[in-house]
Amino acid sequence: MTTNPLAISPSILAADFSRLGEEVRDVVAAGADWIHVDVMDGHFVPNITIGPDVLKSLRPYTDRTMDVHLMISPTDLYLEAFAKAGADVITAHVESGPHIHRTLQTIRALGKQVGVTLNPGTSIATLESVIGMVDMVLVMSVNPGFGGQAFIPDAVERVRTIRKMAGERPIRIEVDGGVIPANAGLLTAAGADTLVAGSAVFKGGRDAYAANIAAIRAAATA
Ligand code: DX5
Ligand code: ZN
Repeated sequence: MTTNPLAISPSILAADFSRLGEEVRDVVAAGADWIHVDVMDGHFVPNITIGPDVLKSLRPYTDRTMDVHLMISPTDLYLEAFAKAGADVITAHVESGPHIHRTLQTIRALGKQVGVTLNPGTSIATLESVIGMVDMVLVMSVNPGFGGQAFIPDAVERVRTIRKMAGERPIRIEVDGGVIPANAGLLTAAGADTLVAGSAVFKGGRDAYAANIAAIRAAATA
């Protein structure tokens, strides 16, 4: 079982993009532990979101961990820019290429926490050769590209398998996609300690954020 404290990481993909700074401030005030930043390039995934300049402009709004989920290919060209823009954790997809091992080495050399991401269709065996290099494994529970998709239940068993594989290593296991109170407890029981939630946090507007986060936290710690 994990010994890391639970981190709830709201995905700002579901926030109001016309006032992202305030959204970050509001969701942190409402109890967010981390902020999850989805970076999409319209090539690795079929959607385009934000780049390092937006991350840099958000950085002054919070001192919470900025959890930067790169869904871009290739990845390496942009790692330094995201590091300088204020990322704390940078995760790269196994398939984003060309060389995941080099990408993870580079994130480490930039002084950032290192995360590796597995899509729902990515074999867990791909982790074996890099698990010793990472601080976090991000298990996708939807195919990446969009918020508001339905949770793929296989993620629960995948988390359990990865937690076993991690053994004594204090690795975080993060789950991203369709996380809601009804699956949060299953995920933490399987060994996840970091939950991304977009729609489930930002639904209902700013007055609902605290209750939305509290509901996920209560389910995750039940
Ligand atoms: C999907 C993104 C997720 C997404 C989560 O590609 O990586 O972070 O925004 O949103 P919900 O919680 O709405 O599924
Ligand atoms: Zn994400």
